[in-house]
Amino acid sequence: MGMIVNSSSTSLKEYRLLPALTSEASAKNKVSLHSRLCQSPSGYLRLNTPFVSASMQAVSDARMAIALARLGGVSVIPVLADEERQISMVKKVKQYKAGFQRELITFCPDTPIRRVQESNDTTGYSIYPVTDNGLFHGKLLGVITDKDFDALVDLDIPVAERMKTQLVVAPDGTPLTEAKAIMIETGRGFLPIVSEEGTLKSVVFRKDLEHHLRFPDANEDSDGRLVVGAAVSTHPQHRSRIPRLIEESADFLVIDASDGYSIYQKETIAYIRSLCDTPVIAGNVVTSEAFEYLAEAGADGIKVGMGIGSGCITQEAKATGRGQATALIDVVSARDNRVAAGGSYIPIIADGGLSSPADICVALALGADTVMMGNYFAQCTESPGDIYYRDGRAFKKYWMEGSLQARNLGRYFLGNDENTPADYFAEGVSGWVAHKGSIFDLVPNSCSKLKASLSSAGCCSIRQLHKSARLEHQSPVAIGDSSVHNMIKDNEFE
Ligand code: IMP
Repeated sequence: MGMIVNSSSTSLKEYRLLPALTSEASAKNKVSLHSRLCQSPSGYLRLNTPFVSASMQAVSDARMAIALARLGGVSVIPVLADEERQISMVKKVKQYKAGFQRELITFCPDTPIRRVQESNDTTGYSIYPVTDNGLFHGKLLGVITDKDFDALVDLDIPVAERMKTQLVVAPDGTPLTEAKAIMIETGRGFLPIVSEEGTLKSVVFRKDLEHHLRFPDANEDSDGRLVVGAAVSTHPQHRSRIPRLIEESADFLVIDASDGYSIYQKETIAYIRSLCDTPVIAGNVVTSEAFEYLAEAGADGIKVGMGIGSGCITQEAKATGRGQATALIDVVSARDNRVAAGGSYIPIIADGGLSSPADICVALALGADTVMMGNYFAQCTESPGDIYYRDGRAFKKYWMEGSLQARNLGRYFLGNDENTPADYFAEGVSGWVAHKGSIFDLVPNSCSKLKASLSSAGCCSIRQLHKSARLEHQSPVAIGDSSVHNMIKDNEFE
């Protein structure tokens, strides 16, 4: 008979924090959410907001990575089957200059307006440059916005008939402050930057500039570029991209595997170490032994979570996994023992199954330094993919990396030769999530709730939360009491 190691495995949703004295030092406006993501050659790579967007195709592309880094978090660009695409996404984030956008949906003058309308509906964008060849770096001929045409009558006429051609533009090399001054003076919300020959080089949105000024917490590297991570797999076939990701200045690498307690992770860490000192986050693990194994192998950060992602069927398929609270308690105790024995502090990332600020707060209180989320970010306007409408409600597509749609063999195929994965099976599903709005609203809202939780727990930082949080396991009846009961909510009363 196998050994029963624990009477039960618990979820984050079963724990609640007990309040502690809120002092002036822990007042909500004094709470900092700064945290350590992983060890780095200069100490630690730190985040101003402890949120990491999952290395999933449905979640983290360059657009998401730029938005989240500006909010103080960070994204991990997933291992895409197309190596060039992954590299170019990292490049795009590192090349991004606050306020200047170097890629945007662009139309040709003879494109029917119907396409502009479709883009408005699915992407949420409303301003588009028009160039001679329809490419971003073509010759700029005009600009079309959602206010320039009548969606009831103009759909079949070409863009050229409605685009604005009297444009205010600025020459390449214009500094951001000057671009802002031009936009204020001319009352424009959009400023194309063009070369001497009239080709479009970049565009500045006033909204973005204001974002830049409003988000002083952006995570930037020492050259002022936004911080971004890149996922790598343990499969030798994917090794060729690792030096290229390093060359493109990926700030850290994340080894992706559904089960990180493997010799393949150790070999991959050793391989990366033989190339450079870029920080490496390994995982996923759910036990103290696995944490120690990866710590000894040289991991700079370790992801915790198995079988609990929102669309994950690993436990159904392999009967392997663990409740996220129990996994964190076990792994964090191994981390703390290691520190007590004189070892270095290895930050822990709670990955998967976090659906609310309450889950995030419990994970941090149990000792996680940051949280990695897929579902949460898939709900944002900034995640890859279009917004779909059904019965008056908005949705986005969300698919897991082990689903048949993603078929991420580097992560979910344990054999050695992924060219002959005859025994590959799905470990995740694909489906839909409700579209909740922009990340620029969602993340600050969640941070505000998190700060309030820390303040109630008498803590002004995540480090203090680790030291002094007191949590209690709740019975099913107590959990029932903690959600709305004995009344019908307005939105459910029809
Ligand atoms: P979520 O935030 O609950 O949706 O979980 C996201 C996390 O689920 C990711 O960061 C991965 O660790 C994990 N994950 C992604 N795809 C799969 C899958 O196909 N099967 C199992 N776990 C997955």
